[in-house]
Amino acid sequence: MNPKLQALAKGIKSNPYEASGDIYHPLPFPEFQDLTTSSDARSAYRKWALVKNCLPLRSSFSNPRVLDIGANAGFYAFNFAKLGAIVDAYEPHKHYATIGHQIVEATGLSVRWYNKKLERTDLLDKQYDIALMLSVFQWISEGDSHIDRATDLLRLVASSSRVLIFELGCNHGKSAIHTEERPIVWIWRLLQQNTSPKRVAYLGQITPWGRARRYIFACAEDLIKLNIWQRLITYVLQHQWVWK
Ligand SMILES: C[S@@+](CC[C@H](N)C(=O)[O-])C[C@H]1O[C@@H](n2cnc3c(N)ncnc32)[C@H](O)[C@@H]1O
Repeated sequence: MNPKLQALAKGIKSNPYEASGDIYHPLPFPEFQDLTTSSDARSAYRKWALVKNCLPLRSSFSNPRVLDIGANAGFYAFNFAKLGAIVDAYEPHKHYATIGHQIVEATGLSVRWYNKKLERTDLLDKQYDIALMLSVFQWISEGDSHIDRATDLLRLVASSSRVLIFELGCNHGKSAIHTEERPIVWIWRLLQQNTSPKRVAYLGQITPWGRARRYIFACAEDLIKLNIWQRLITYVLQHQWVWK
């Protein structure tokens, strides 16, 4: 056990931050195992498994450069860093960016924290192997208010990365995007229209808040490993069999 992480976990426990948990999502170190999370921790681990399993990390991606937009306290950023990735994490929320920064100080893992929103200028001359936009598009768009702005950033992130992993749900929660379509179809089209020449592949769904679904996709020109179910649902979406 790392004493600095133990002290940090104790501090978080004595000052819970969320209405229904100590922190928003889990942290992938044993020192934090007693903390409670406001979102469902099992969903975070399932999401991580879906992301990791689709990437050929050992072959094409040794020490990948990873961009995590809306990293929160760093569950995905630190999971990647533990595998040898070099991570840039953007998180505007001071409480969570500070936790992330303290974990870097305690562990020496390669995650650079930016306590700010990602802006277009941050991507000038930058190229990443993997970019993560996990449940953050709706915050960038401020729900239905600025979808054009968020789409513009999505296009830039897609062109600045080899693989983009994207997660979103609709019609539920603070800052939700609303649609009368099936949300999976709305999200599929958003990615199809704005991440070309990448191809969009379905990875799976999670339910971090009650029964509200969030859908996870990978956008890449190649490199992605899909199982039979992921191939099947991707095929169904490609052929618009769930449009109506
Ligand atoms: C729903 S949480 C998702 C956190 C994490 N990506 C995950 O999947 O568990 C959204 C995160 O995005 C951050 N955020 C909000 N607006 C943002 C923006 N414009 N740019 C980057 N991050 C933002 C929030 O502070 C919050 O930590």
